[in-house]
Amino acid sequence: MRLSDVPGLAQLALALALTASSLATAAAQETGDQAIERRVNELLGQMTLEEKIGQLNLVSHGPPLRWEDISEGKAGALLNFNSARDVARAQALARQSRLKIPPLFGLDVLHGFRTQFPLPLGEAAAFSPRISRLASEWAAREAAYVGVNWTFAPMADLSRDSRWGRIVEGFGEDPTLGAALTAARVEGFRKGGLAAAAKHFAGYGAPQGGRDYDTTYIPRAEMYDTYLPPFRAAVDAGTASFMVAFNALNGEPSTANPWLLTDVLRTQWGFDGFVTSDWVGIGELINHGVAADGAEAARKAILAGVDMDMMGQLYIKHLPDEVRAGRVPESVVDESVRRVLRTKFRMGLFDRPDIDPTRVDSAFPTPESRQMAREVARETFVLLQNRDNVLPVPPTVRSVAVVGPLADAPHDQLGPHAARGHKEDSVSILEGIRRRAQGTGITVRHAPACDLFCRSTDGLPDALEAARQSDLVIAVFGEPQELSGEAASRAHLELNGRQIEVLEELAKTGKPVALVIMGGRPQVLGPVAERIPSILMVWYPGTEAGPAVADVLFGDVSPSGKLPVTWPRATGQLPFYYNRLPSSRPTLPDNRFTLNYIDEAITPLYPFGWGLSYTQFAYSDAKLASRRLDEGQSLEVSVSVTNTGARDGQEVVQLYTRDPVASRSRPLRELKAFEKIALKAGETKQVTLRVPVESLGFHLDDGTYLVEAGAIQIFVGGSSLAEPAGEAEILKTFRIPPMERRASASTSVAQ
Ligand code: BGC
Repeated sequence: MRLSDVPGLAQLALALALTASSLATAAAQETGDQAIERRVNELLGQMTLEEKIGQLNLVSHGPPLRWEDISEGKAGALLNFNSARDVARAQALARQSRLKIPPLFGLDVLHGFRTQFPLPLGEAAAFSPRISRLASEWAAREAAYVGVNWTFAPMADLSRDSRWGRIVEGFGEDPTLGAALTAARVEGFRKGGLAAAAKHFAGYGAPQGGRDYDTTYIPRAEMYDTYLPPFRAAVDAGTASFMVAFNALNGEPSTANPWLLTDVLRTQWGFDGFVTSDWVGIGELINHGVAADGAEAARKAILAGVDMDMMGQLYIKHLPDEVRAGRVPESVVDESVRRVLRTKFRMGLFDRPDIDPTRVDSAFPTPESRQMAREVARETFVLLQNRDNVLPVPPTVRSVAVVGPLADAPHDQLGPHAARGHKEDSVSILEGIRRRAQGTGITVRHAPACDLFCRSTDGLPDALEAARQSDLVIAVFGEPQELSGEAASRAHLELNGRQIEVLEELAKTGKPVALVIMGGRPQVLGPVAERIPSILMVWYPGTEAGPAVADVLFGDVSPSGKLPVTWPRATGQLPFYYNRLPSSRPTLPDNRFTLNYIDEAITPLYPFGWGLSYTQFAYSDAKLASRRLDEGQSLEVSVSVTNTGARDGQEVVQLYTRDPVASRSRPLRELKAFEKIALKAGETKQVTLRVPVESLGFHLDDGTYLVEAGAIQIFVGGSSLAEPAGEAEILKTFRIPPMERRASASTSVAQ
């Protein structure tokens, strides 16, 4: 019913009733929040100091946890409890404790629990918040089924350096993509039943030399512009918690950094959930050289804003004395406990039945979860090059040689942090190709050529023989999962072992070769990019790697992933990213005294946002709704995109801007909006991308956002090499104070 359907007085009465009911809803909403605060304070009022500190203690399954710590109220949060039997036992013990406060059960659920989806960096290549939400929701559902209720994810660390092994856990190098996907992941986890922990706050992804745990120097304005937006987006998406980074930021370890944990997170962003340390991170303040002993480390951490101690046992050991001696005000402990209890009430933990201990994760994967994992995975593959259209496998091909150790690597395809992933559930790439070939008359030969790390090439003669006997070679190489993830920094990003030699030999057979790269970051390809015509990056695709890779190799689905990281030609180019500042001496190929290397090209091998399809897309008619932009308005750009090829496909339409003259040097290009669209062969769609004027500026060191009057250049296309699409003018300069700026103002991304 619409109001205009109702005559006269009745209309007025109905309008009043509607107003009253919406006011009542608002009041009820307020009461809900207030009720939680009341319950938190009532509970806090009954707690001893030891019980309070027990809520701040996060302990892993196994030593040093004693099960009776739970019934004694000394372990308010638990991690690595990944079976319903153990969760139920802990829940029963918590019910025996004096105040019966339910524990949190945390686990690293990044990209799946039992069914594994692609690793986050791969998932980012889908350039699709919908895909990220879906994958996170499925991961959460399976973990929640056995009683896990909190995930140490998403990793919101932006990284411009693929030497850093943990780049695989994030979204790559771009803050706009990062903010959109971090928010989507938080939402997906919550929908599937897990509270999120945005980690690692902050700057962890920029350690010097790409060395995990090493120190980070990032100017504050750059923190606000580049490294913090994904974390801010996590707050706006409702993350329950944060995890602090291990390393020091500008000389101040994050675990004792009041600027990060209090000024930015609580005061400027208004975050009222809780913050946990990383694994024994509080004790590591001693290694950082900012605490002499455990007591000082505990004191510095809680005073800076770390509410929970993961595995350090330092809060439980030292905080009671620190409080009694007056070195830590009890009100500080109370505030931390409030944050933890508030989160537990919000999650509904006090009102939930305990988990059924007979539930087992072998209930998964289901046919449905496999189908989802397959659909997500095939959105994430990036076709880096495809000379001579080697892919998709042409209908004339009657035999393929599947070569390379990663073709049959059911463990490695799951990638690092695979929670309860079992390699027995995996369908390998070889198996996927065999299944797809079945019934088509295509013969599949398999020869690994070398061992997993490609140290020995004893198998090369067999592999070359298989290649010679076949019409096409599918070579599956890359980075075994042990070389990726935490504590897996690499100083050499070349394809490890003797892979290059093997690939060159394969190329010499004269057979067309398609290289499928599995791995957690760009690999330095050296001569391979020249010798091998077609290269498909598949990251770590997860449980359903085989079917998903076969879908794309055989052309049942066109590849549509785009690079979320710049792909270097050489390790020495790192850190490397597209949104860099202009140089005083822009590159001129024939002038040595400009931005150049003397021994390598200055350009990446493949740029950010890059990825081919089996079809082609043409961009035309880019138009600005208005060239003049005032405060509160949006830059609105429309463009027609046509699928000019013979196959259906998907394209990620990307909008970049540049502020060519500002009071501070501004990046050559910045991604501001993107949208993934599906186009049938021959189809044209008009895409409209909007960017609020409030996100066309930059931050100052104190967090103020400054939008300056003047020209903004616009580029639209299918990668960061997008073509110019016009220029707009911001009419006046204005500032947004840090507390008034919302992350949503900084992105404009179709969901
Ligand atoms: C990692 C965290 C992880 C934690 C718990 C640490 O080593 O840095 O990202 O959540 O372990 O497993």
